[in-house]
Amino acid sequence: MSIQSKPPVKSAKPWGGRFKESTSQEVEAYTESISFDTKMYRQDIAGSKAHARMLGKQGIISIDEADALIKGLDLVLAEIETGKLVWKQELEDVHMNVETRLTEIVGDVGKKLHTGRSRNDQCCLDFRLYTSDALREWVSLAKNLVAAFVKRAEENTEALLPGCTHMQPAQPVSLAHHLLAYAWMFKRDVERVEDCEKRARISPLGAAALAGTTYNLDPQSVADELEMYGIFKNSMDVVADRDYVLEALFCGSVIMTHLSRICEEIIWWANPQFAFVMLSDAHSTGSSIMPQKKNPDVAEIMRGKSGRSYGNLMNLLTTLKGLPLTYNRDLQEDKVPFMDTDKTVQTSLSLMADMLLGIRFRTDRMEKALKAGFLNATEFADYLVTKDIPFREAHHITGRAVALAEERNIGLEDLSLDDFNALCQDFNVTVEDEVYTILDYHTAVSRRNISGGTGPDAVKAQLNELNLWLQSSL
Ligand code: ARG
Repeated sequence: MSIQSKPPVKSAKPWGGRFKESTSQEVEAYTESISFDTKMYRQDIAGSKAHARMLGKQGIISIDEADALIKGLDLVLAEIETGKLVWKQELEDVHMNVETRLTEIVGDVGKKLHTGRSRNDQCCLDFRLYTSDALREWVSLAKNLVAAFVKRAEENTEALLPGCTHMQPAQPVSLAHHLLAYAWMFKRDVERVEDCEKRARISPLGAAALAGTTYNLDPQSVADELEMYGIFKNSMDVVADRDYVLEALFCGSVIMTHLSRICEEIIWWANPQFAFVMLSDAHSTGSSIMPQKKNPDVAEIMRGKSGRSYGNLMNLLTTLKGLPLTYNRDLQEDKVPFMDTDKTVQTSLSLMADMLLGIRFRTDRMEKALKAGFLNATEFADYLVTKDIPFREAHHITGRAVALAEERNIGLEDLSLDDFNALCQDFNVTVEDEVYTILDYHTAVSRRNISGGTGPDAVKAQLNELNLWLQSSL
């Protein structure tokens, strides 16, 4: 099969002055960014309005001209929002589409908008604003998820379940404590994203193509109008820098990792052999062949989507690693991975909160699982230590107690005092009735009130701290 190039099309590019021939259609289709950067139209227009106002204030264009540009940009915005504006691929990107339409509406004054500006700093500005706006959404969705974990924890301070290490039953913990572990993860995510957002929302306008500009611009006033935290320090750095996108992609990957971990637990817990949770019908699906099935597809897809967010981070890291200063067209490849991660993170955070609020915890099943796993074994060993048996010996005796109970298919707490004392016969100690209180799962949990532990007072303190944080950060 031979690929024939189509005849060149005539197109008057805004940059077309030095070109005799027009670009081939294949090249236009290959190099365009309009198919994805239209998503930044709001940021593009806000940035252009701030730039126009500043040009007027600085006397670089007249105030009337600035007003005409601002009004025209609002008209372009209205056309976009009502679906009237026809995006043109031959105009490459959102920046040139908006400017071209503006000039059609306001006439020649439209051609003054780009004074003292380059698409290199303009596309940075738009994308920095876009990323920052997205990160603010992540913050609010992640806080909402923390609130959902806190709510479910508050409702489940009494229930216990096996805490695991190596995916094997280890020690009893309160369900609230288990859920709050995730609340803290997502709180850290909020803080990470907020920190990253500060570096994203810095204005590059005034850097122009790479070297700054000879016009007497006032970059700070543009930054102020756009409620940005500051302005660039080095024009070459800022048009080449995409660190903030990398950071955002990393933050997104960590969020997806945290989501994927709770998804993994939900998937296990929903398995009838655990039956620790019942998912709401709204968050499960059936099987086309097996009528009994209720599948945790939402959790599975979410766990699966973590992969694409890692891929997006790798994607941009790889794009950036060999790029010399300053702007290179490769940088246009920054948007698709971020936009994909953004959608993944936002939809996942929101769905997880809904799913969590709809879950029914089978605390009866959790309680049963404690017994089967000998989750009070550590308690018995610690009890023997209080009787002056060295810990290593206590560990050994407890191991034999577990083996005995396992043989009889009962819990440790079902062994008799005679059984216990027979196991301790080499030591001069008597196991007494109090051992049964010690072996009680609820006692085991309630004795772990060390700050950050699973004891009820320690969990209450966590809930207080998280609630205060949620209130203060709304
Ligand atoms: N679409 C381009 C991007 O996103 C805009 C900047 C183009 N600059 C240039 N010098 N061709 O990177």
